[in-house]
Amino acid sequence: RGSRWRGFLAGVGRITLITLVGGAGTFYYLTYKDRHPGVQLPYDPSKKNIVVLGSGWAATSFLKNIDNTEYNVIVVSPRNFFLFTPLLPSVAVGTLTSGAILQPTRYLTRHKPRQVTVIEAEVKAVDPQAKTVTFADESEVKGAVSSTTINYDYLVYAVGAETQTFGIPGVQEHACFMKEINDAENMKRRFMDCIETAAFPGQSKEEIDRLLHMVVVGGGPTGVEVSGEIHDFLVEDLKQWYPELADRIRITLVEALPSVLPMFSKKLIDYTISTFKEAKIDVLTNTMVKEIKPQSVVLQMPDKTMADVPVGMVVWAGGNKPRQLSVDLMNQYPELQKNRRGITIDDCLRMVGPSDSSVFALGDCTSSGYAPTAQVASQQGAYLAGIFHQLLKRDAIAAQLSETMAAGNTREAKQLRWRLERANNLRPFHYSHQGSLAYIGHDRAIADVNIFNKAISSGGVATFLFWRSAYLSTLFSLRNRFLVANDWIKCRLFGRDLVRD
Ligand code: FAD
Ligand code: NAI
Repeated sequence: RGSRWRGFLAGVGRITLITLVGGAGTFYYLTYKDRHPGVQLPYDPSKKNIVVLGSGWAATSFLKNIDNTEYNVIVVSPRNFFLFTPLLPSVAVGTLTSGAILQPTRYLTRHKPRQVTVIEAEVKAVDPQAKTVTFADESEVKGAVSSTTINYDYLVYAVGAETQTFGIPGVQEHACFMKEINDAENMKRRFMDCIETAAFPGQSKEEIDRLLHMVVVGGGPTGVEVSGEIHDFLVEDLKQWYPELADRIRITLVEALPSVLPMFSKKLIDYTISTFKEAKIDVLTNTMVKEIKPQSVVLQMPDKTMADVPVGMVVWAGGNKPRQLSVDLMNQYPELQKNRRGITIDDCLRMVGPSDSSVFALGDCTSSGYAPTAQVASQQGAYLAGIFHQLLKRDAIAAQLSETMAAGNTREAKQLRWRLERANNLRPFHYSHQGSLAYIGHDRAIADVNIFNKAISSGGVATFLFWRSAYLSTLFSLRNRFLVANDWIKCRLFGRDLVRD
């Protein structure tokens, strides 16, 4: 009997060893392949130029999916990386480090069949008539040349949106935002500064209460996630290291509409509100921020009275508006581009206006009728990559047609004309909604998802695990998955770091 056990254990041991060695080998192979890309085809002046503006969700998905063997691709973006926005609020409280959710654009483009030119610059103007893009290096270090204009055959316009402030006084000057990586870093710095200043000897009770009052404006998913993350930081870490202050920290979420999270089902909105109540996060609905002062926020309460509430930090998550660059582009077609929410596009993502259909716009910069989400932007990017494949086929048929016509072969020309007509009919974009997910703090998340065409709403700890695994698998690279998983483990074992850098 003992030898049978020994045999069984030896078998299990062998299988475990093979799995471990196999897993480690595969991991090593994948990381090696990632770090040692092969030789690429060079830039070819005889091929058409696709100029991609931006390196966010839409542009990165496009770059990932495009077969650029027959195209030259040039990317212009003021940041040389892709930012995985869904995990940005986690960086703002130190659950994740910034690097874990950033992916340098070159890590992706270096793996494409043909060399991709990546230019770190801010686009200043687009001229669809001349088919040119003008951009400038806005970084601290500038060379002898820091501004130039290039031509494009096709433009993939994916510059995203900026935060809507509605011109409310003091927002730009005194609030933290939650859009870019430096916004998350600023918020963490400001938050820790408020706590350390509250701990300064001799601070009055009122001043401590002011410094420890954190107000989040906007009850959309960004505002809700930020509130949840601040709460986690408070209960999981600050309570240990600032026991005399932690209980005095207050979090208030302010929303102008009657409800938070309008895109989620009623059941999940109620669940979020009750979770926030339990977590002592005050939710003020029907309440509008009218002004942000250096040390207070002016609220218009539901009964229309005004309240000047002392605050230490305000995080502004008031939604999106088009960038000035997009407004300037739209203004070139005043009759056709009237939607103030973004660029009007057709079913195939072509900007309405330019007569030669050479400008494609996608993601948050458009007013496509879809919500401005990463899901939509990345599906549009993948779709557009397929369209360029179809355009290639169309161009080949057109070239064949002119050769055939020159040779006077009318029968074949007729057939080619018919094929060209079909190739000119681009298949329209169809969005497939995979559901909505949001983290609400307390190791809980909410999800409205479609599984086998069945709508399922769920909230809680199991949904939180689903949220984590969904985002881990959505991260664009093995490197980022490794870094994010590592940070989550590090946070569980050692807590968040309190350094104010
Ligand atoms: P972006 O990703 O914003 O990319 C725009 C790109 O354009 C950037 O690279 C930028 O540097 C570049 N750019 C800007 N100006 C210029 C210029 N002048 N010239 C050239 N390039 C320029 N959506 C979801 O579906 N699920 C989520 O969980 C989710 N969580 C989110 C959490 C947060 C905190 C935020 C802020 C958003 C979240 N979103 C989420 C929304 C999602 O991030 C956006 O819908 C998505 O980023 C849109 O992709 P985009 O490519 O259009 O724009
Ligand atoms: P949002 O537009 O969804 O919400 C902004 C909220 O701010 C609105 O509800 C608005 O009423 C409120 N607001 C504006 N001005 C105000 C004021 N002066 N006082 C009080 N409240 C005010 O913006 P958000 O949350 O940044 O999201 C932007 C997009 O990104 C959305 O499409 C969203 O779906 C997507 N997103 C998705 C996430 C997810 O799926 N988990 C997470 C974050 C964003």
